[in-house]
Amino acid sequence: MKITQNDIILDSDPRIRLKSEEVELPLKDEDRELLQAMLEYVKNSQDEEIAQAEGLIPAVGIAAIQLGIPKQMLAVVVPDSDGIHEAALVNPKIISQSVQNAYLENGEGCLSVKDEHPGHVFRHARIKVRAYDLIQDKKVVLAASGYFAIALQHEIDHLSGVLFYDRIDTVNPWKEDEEAEVI
Ligand code: NI
Repeated sequence: MKITQNDIILDSDPRIRLKSEEVELPLKDEDRELLQAMLEYVKNSQDEEIAQAEGLIPAVGIAAIQLGIPKQMLAVVVPDSDGIHEAALVNPKIISQSVQNAYLENGEGCLSVKDEHPGHVFRHARIKVRAYDLIQDKKVVLAASGYFAIALQHEIDHLSGVLFYDRIDTVNPWKEDEEAEVI
């Protein structure tokens, strides 16, 4: 199974607002293959040569609903100063979160969003996520901070049908939070 750009649904498609269902564990073959393909898509999208050859838009994450499949699965690959953080999660739940916020200085983007939605998206600076991780092939509790934490929260939002621009302040989109970590 291989995911192409054409497989990705946009926010004009009402399915993007669906709440995704929990996935049965241990994973069935079809779910394993789907999540593996999602992880490959994200990795390939970050490889300049492959991305250009296959017409992929660079991304740090994808959720199954972006393929129109309402299952609680997501893949994230985030290059950071201390290495590459990757996760291919099933049924992820945020079990703790910092009071401190974090946000990307230039705002967020999404494979399913073509229009510009400028503004800061406040997220928790640090989170702990419980899930089954396909990469480690076990149930895990991931501690995430920085860009990795932001990417995870963006993808976990997709599982409830929430898009990044839902979280942008409509009156003052570039409002700041002096306590927050700016990335
Ligand atoms: Ni997205």
